[in-house]
Amino acid sequence: MVNIEKVWFEHHEPNAIGIGESAPRISWTIVGDDKSWEQASYELQIKRDGQETESVVVESTESRLVPWPGQVLSSREHATIRVRVTSNLGVVSEWSDVFIVEAGILFPGHWECLLIEPNDPTETSPQKHRSVTFRRRFSLPNNSDIARARLYISAHGIYESRVNNSRVGDHVLAPGWTAYQERLQYQTFDISNQVCVDQENEIEVDVGEGWFCGSLAFIRRSNIYGNHLGLIAMMIVELENGESFHLNTDESWTWAHGRILDSGLLDGETYDFGQVSSPCKSVQVHKCPSFTRLVAPDGPPIRETQKLEVERIIVSPTGRSILDFGQNFVGYIKVERVSGSAGTTIQFRFAEVLENGEIGVYTLILDVGGPTTWQPKFTFHGFRYVEVSGWPAGSSLKKEDFIGIVIHSDMDCTGHFRCSNPLLNMLHENIVWSMKGNFVGIPTDCPQRDERLGWTGDINVLGTTASYLFDVTGMLASWMKNLLVEQNAAGGVVPLAILAQEEAIWGDVTIMLPWTLYQATGDQELLLRHYESMKSWLKAIPRSSTGLWKYDGYKLADWLDPSAPAEAPANAMTDMYLVCDLFLVHATSLMTQISAALSKYSAEIKQLRQAFETEYVTPAGRLACDTQTAYALAIQFDLFSSTEKTRHTAERLSLLVRQRSRFKMSTGFAGTPFLGHALSKVDMSNVFYRMLLHRVCPSWLFPVTMGATTVWELCFSDGSVIPGEITSFNHYAFGSVASWIYQTICGLKNIEPGWRTFQVEPVPGGARRWAEADHRSAYGYCRVHWEIRKSTTEPEEQFWLEVVVPPNTKCHIRLPGSTYLVVVGSGRVELETAYHPQQWPARAVLPPFSPSNDELPKMKF
Ligand code: BGC
Repeated sequence: MVNIEKVWFEHHEPNAIGIGESAPRISWTIVGDDKSWEQASYELQIKRDGQETESVVVESTESRLVPWPGQVLSSREHATIRVRVTSNLGVVSEWSDVFIVEAGILFPGHWECLLIEPNDPTETSPQKHRSVTFRRRFSLPNNSDIARARLYISAHGIYESRVNNSRVGDHVLAPGWTAYQERLQYQTFDISNQVCVDQENEIEVDVGEGWFCGSLAFIRRSNIYGNHLGLIAMMIVELENGESFHLNTDESWTWAHGRILDSGLLDGETYDFGQVSSPCKSVQVHKCPSFTRLVAPDGPPIRETQKLEVERIIVSPTGRSILDFGQNFVGYIKVERVSGSAGTTIQFRFAEVLENGEIGVYTLILDVGGPTTWQPKFTFHGFRYVEVSGWPAGSSLKKEDFIGIVIHSDMDCTGHFRCSNPLLNMLHENIVWSMKGNFVGIPTDCPQRDERLGWTGDINVLGTTASYLFDVTGMLASWMKNLLVEQNAAGGVVPLAILAQEEAIWGDVTIMLPWTLYQATGDQELLLRHYESMKSWLKAIPRSSTGLWKYDGYKLADWLDPSAPAEAPANAMTDMYLVCDLFLVHATSLMTQISAALSKYSAEIKQLRQAFETEYVTPAGRLACDTQTAYALAIQFDLFSSTEKTRHTAERLSLLVRQRSRFKMSTGFAGTPFLGHALSKVDMSNVFYRMLLHRVCPSWLFPVTMGATTVWELCFSDGSVIPGEITSFNHYAFGSVASWIYQTICGLKNIEPGWRTFQVEPVPGGARRWAEADHRSAYGYCRVHWEIRKSTTEPEEQFWLEVVVPPNTKCHIRLPGSTYLVVVGSGRVELETAYHPQQWPARAVLPPFSPSNDELPKMKF
């Protein structure tokens, strides 16, 4: 028997309120272990406020992103929905639970409030904005109970609100960072249980400078989007008797400074318990510049998702007390308990490694009174260590006095991997941690130094891996809408982060990322939304007469190739323009596929391939640039006109890995995500296995052996800070290798966009005895587990495979070394075959009479 596990709308969390779509598409996940279960039809039951329940039966095999039935939702309309499905054998499931869908403010004219700002001449364009609290008292009519109460709210800055002294919602750093000039996100909160009819109520909203007017990035510029803190809020309380009460931000609100003396995303926070709130002052009101730019979120909010205990307290050689959380993470600390005499000033300094680095600071000033708890509100850091100074005399610093709070965009975790090699497992966990730390509203490069920017190349190279590990669609779809705004403003040129500049890979994000998300979800809407942007990027690329990139100076290209000097990370071994052209051919070829998916016409790619071949490929199939990145990309992007040339290139690539770099990492941002896939494509997975399992510097596992708990910006770092700007210990780009771990070690990959049909073709290798992975697609859990087992009856070892296929999907399974394809429907299946290992280890190519003959990896696993 199957059941409906959850129902959700568009790419929102289940039961999301305040969504921006009036006809949200509906998806549900079916769970159960029925064999070959397929859906023949579905039934939706919708109950709108004040209306009869409607039922719709649709004959369809689709359970993902099905159209909204019937009349569209109006602004603020609330409905509940449940689903049941009928199988192709006519068996009807139970009804799902009831799920909520509620529209936000769908039309600009439905906003009734004004933008309020502190009416304070000292607040005009300062470089720092001290955070403020906006307040309003109100009473509700007391002749009826409350049916439903909602708060629609946003800010110029970041906000946290309280109603009757209890915090509203669990969002952190709301409204998040968007292209504020055109898109200001608002949030909708259910405050039905926080407002009262029988007492006076109070709403308070703290607003800090955040991204809106705080100092940003290495340019440390403030007031980029505006030079005042501001608040926009509309409260609507619906009463049981049909009446409603509206409270809007307007001139009746007041503002005051509170105990936060100073707060900045990069700099930290200063909080003084001894401050008395300043007298309430009047606000100035403005018509919102345009309510058209108030947009509902597309994905999950940033939340506190995990709590970490202090692992140990270290006393440094100079006697300083340092908390060690044992994990590099992103968030802040909470002081669980502190007491001391009034005026005691405690400072917390944050660092990822013990040497030093860019450090945000919290300052906490105590007042008289008993023990208190405290955590900052408008700042976050990337850190593992916290230096504490000024801790009250007489009380010793205890681990239990602190807790580490992890924050990130609260996406569902959709990928897990484990195998018999603990170092590889640790690498996978580190990639997950780096993703969490760099998915804070937008995908960032790093969370600690003065960047924390949505560098487009970083997420472009991580895209596929990201979509295995987490449900990133809502969050990235939202960020991509901001990118559209910035790109339009720059005449088609895609911004790198805050600057618009013509760069391959970084700019190609506008084509490659929607494609990746389409592969993960099957949602064509994402392709359609970005289609014009894709075309304008291809048009904006400066071209030579051949159609390839025109020489135009320095390019980022294979950024952070380990052989590039630390002070010039783009000075890679691989020619910058060859990399740009490889990505140009790839992006253009994706454009052909995207156009076909959308039934649109796209220009021919043939001519571009020809131009590439003429410029860079020798008649035998070598490339003008003899590097791993060049060969890997050319193989992966199908650049060769014959299989002989591909074969020739593959052999050259294998030689470069085995001889020149001797299994050490030798690729930067451009080559790294594709190298393993390219080697597997030409049946050389064993070569990449040895690379992946290599521990000699630079390699993926070297930082792991150096104690890394996240992915480091430099794969050759030993954990100490290298002078220069490349100092991040939480940079996810080299974690892009995880897509190979899922797709090759476990062989788990979608065949159809959206994973309705997927494949399991594991490639065992190295000396590992087992591996397992699962990925939760929109259809449910797709799981693989394999083991190499000794046989009691057969002379050879056996390869044993277990696959779990979710209902309403199909899986194509191929066992290692077999040409036979097994196609199965849902359920659990076990298969076994004789195991013939690939050559292991792949041999290095060494000079004759080399004393070490071959540096065999010393691996027990
Ligand atoms: C960032 C990178 C980014 C690069 C581009 C760096 O400072 O940390 O990850 O992509 O700049 O120039």
